[in-house]
Amino acid sequence: MLDKHEIQKRRQKFISPSFSLSYEEPLNFVRGKAQYLYDSKGVEYLDAVNNIQHVGHSHPKVTEAATRQLEQLNTNTRYLDETILDYADALTKKLPQGLDRCFFTNSGSESNDLALRIARHHANSKETIVLEGGYHGHSISLIEVSPYKHNGPGGQGPPEYVHMVPIPDPFRGIYRGPSSGPEYASEVKKILDRLNAEHKNISAFIVESIMGCGGQLIPPAGFLSESFGMIRENGGLCITDEIQIGFGRMGECFWGFETQDITPDIVTLGKSIGNGHPLSVVVTTKELSDEFNNGMEYFNSFGGNPVSCAIGHAVLNIIEEEDLQKNAFEVGKELLTLLDQLKSKHDIIGDVRGKGLFLGIEIINEIKTRSPDQTATNQIVNEMQNRGILLSSDGPDHNVIKIKPPMVFNRSNALFLVETLDKVLSEK
Ligand SMILES: Cc1ncc(COP(=O)(O)O)c(C=O)c1O
Repeated sequence: MLDKHEIQKRRQKFISPSFSLSYEEPLNFVRGKAQYLYDSKGVEYLDAVNNIQHVGHSHPKVTEAATRQLEQLNTNTRYLDETILDYADALTKKLPQGLDRCFFTNSGSESNDLALRIARHHANSKETIVLEGGYHGHSISLIEVSPYKHNGPGGQGPPEYVHMVPIPDPFRGIYRGPSSGPEYASEVKKILDRLNAEHKNISAFIVESIMGCGGQLIPPAGFLSESFGMIRENGGLCITDEIQIGFGRMGECFWGFETQDITPDIVTLGKSIGNGHPLSVVVTTKELSDEFNNGMEYFNSFGGNPVSCAIGHAVLNIIEEEDLQKNAFEVGKELLTLLDQLKSKHDIIGDVRGKGLFLGIEIINEIKTRSPDQTATNQIVNEMQNRGILLSSDGPDHNVIKIKPPMVFNRSNALFLVETLDKVLSEK
């Protein structure tokens, strides 16, 4: 077996350098179980950041569902098949009434691209409103609507039909505090007024209802609900990208958009939906899906295949059987309280926020300016890794530590994380 550094060298021979590695000292995992990962020497790491392996690494029921279906049949949506129907039925039961027509795809990017197509077809326009710091995927169409990418390193800014609302950050944004929602909504109005003056139709407002790459941000109350109202009055559609938030992770409710008192016209799901298997879904209304059916067939070689659907259905069942939403609520609440206590002890923590098992710790230089400390954030994440805990950092200034573990993360994991973080911060 090659050692880590030899593997890294070999990787450089075959894999594009655009693929980055996490941590100063890259890791080579050979096994995963529940919320733990193991390297080639058998060292155990607590995974506090992998939201994709939603019900836990290598969950036996996911493996069983995949194996059973692979052994029986794998085809595509051109044949009648009840696996996809059973899954669509179970999935749409979790969504608000009316959101009941599914398009199955293979990645979050693919789902968001299709959501944009549906909206652009509806409005006969490409005008799109996005949030500063938002991320929706890696394809050309999605880099265009992802300020996180097109305004970041290597980016070339947005095309003329993409309009950006300032990041709705109540801690460090242009409007601050819990009552800043209407002020951010007024930014949406400004864009709509401008489009109207130019006789342009709005096609879509695409948002993460809780921002992930934007820094685990909960938008201030009223911002999204007020904005959704204005978008609809102007004939546009509202798309919520739940891809990073996932299923039941908020704890208090199943979907991120429910925390904002909004119902989307189109919702996109991915990442955690297949526990690591490439599965994603666009769900919309009957009216919009009928309207999209304009004669051009929608065919997707892999999307909606029986194996993917069997896996997706198994994940939904496990969330119910193991009461994982309740776990996210209880463990997340306790973890947030402990992190808040840590904040009063360490000035470097500017803000602690989030819901359920989707939390963020914002690292700053000083409270007066709230200036971001990217270097310290990096050091903390790497030091936590040295001590066996996997975290990541994100946000426009890369100064927010992200916590979004597999949903089986438990109380003693939470305690271990906070105690270790306390030690790391005390030694700084
Ligand atoms: C909010 C959000 N939307 C879309 C995507 C793109 O998903 P994928 O990487 O499966 O294409 C991501 C991935 O990180 C994401 O976080």
